[in-house]
Amino acid sequence: MKKILVTGANGQLGRCIQDAAADFPDFEFVFVSKEKLDISNQDLLTEFFTRHHFSHCINTAAYTNVEKAESEPEKAFAINAVAVENLAETCKQHNIVLFHISTDYVFDGKKGSPYIEEDKPRPLNVYGESKLKGEEYIQQICDKYFIFRTSWLYSQYGHNFYKSIVRMAREGKRMTITTEQTGTPTNANDLARALLQVIAQDSEEYGVYHYSNAGETTWYGFAEAILQQSEKLKGASLEKINHYTTFAARPAYSVLDCGKACNRLYLKTIHWRESLKLVLKRTVDNL
Ligand SMILES: NC(=O)c1ccc[n+]([C@@H]2O[C@H](COP(=O)([O-])OP(=O)(O)OC[C@H]3O[C@@H](n4cnc5c(N)ncnc54)[C@H](OP(=O)(O)O)[C@@H]3O)[C@@H](O)[C@H]2O)c1
Repeated sequence: MKKILVTGANGQLGRCIQDAAADFPDFEFVFVSKEKLDISNQDLLTEFFTRHHFSHCINTAAYTNVEKAESEPEKAFAINAVAVENLAETCKQHNIVLFHISTDYVFDGKKGSPYIEEDKPRPLNVYGESKLKGEEYIQQICDKYFIFRTSWLYSQYGHNFYKSIVRMAREGKRMTITTEQTGTPTNANDLARALLQVIAQDSEEYGVYHYSNAGETTWYGFAEAILQQSEKLKGASLEKINHYTTFAARPAYSVLDCGKACNRLYLKTIHWRESLKLVLKRTVDNL
């Protein structure tokens, strides 16, 4: 029996994994929020992993506030790097396969075509640097690991761009959204299922993978699609701008090439527009 620990379980991806778990009845899941298991507390980690016997750990816990990370780098590194190092040591010690989530923000966005796993990371912001350090620790420490870099995660849960656009459209607010970055919105429900599919396969093709929805767009294109694809949000006021000032620099082009995950792990990637329709159907159009 596979026994899977999911950390950060009250976050966006954690909650999507909780939903997807229903389709994997042969797995035993233990979902822990930050309140139950703070991954930066090494004593707690040791005690928890000694008490339970996990076969897999999916680490969705992370410091994810890209803007705030610029002013509190210690906190970002403590969670995204040092805590990940401790988690990797603990998984290695207990022979647990570690699944970890990383980001397109490890790249500088200057390549101009989709990034493959072998491309050299060069983060532009503190969040990306801290996530890259976490990746490096896992690669140094673990043999049995999967690092999934993903991009522009959104879903019906948590705080994300999709939910902000839906909320502002409902409130009748005028929206100005930038065309400055190109990437791929990824439905966190798709990533959640993909992670569990890899566990179900017993794959030993360990390593770094890129996994996002297919296609590419800008934040403006994403907002436009959200409004156009929903009967209830059509007509909201949306304006295109070509620059939006932020504390954290972001890669201009951070599309991920998911070929390796499709070929070696047999994962499928749905086009982001198709997946968006499913989230809209669940969250807006049936209300
Ligand atoms: N969101 C995106 O656009 C995006 C894009 C690419 C990659 N990713 C990566 O995808 C993963 C999942 O992201 P997400 O969108 O689900 O993020 P999220 O909604 O912010 O969830 C992260 C969860 O981790 C928890 N957490 C923070 N510090 C913790 C600690 N010390 N111990 C245990 N839990 C802790 C958070 O709790 P609190 O909220 O209470 O702090 C939150 O519940 C992350 O690794 C992220 O870096 C995200």
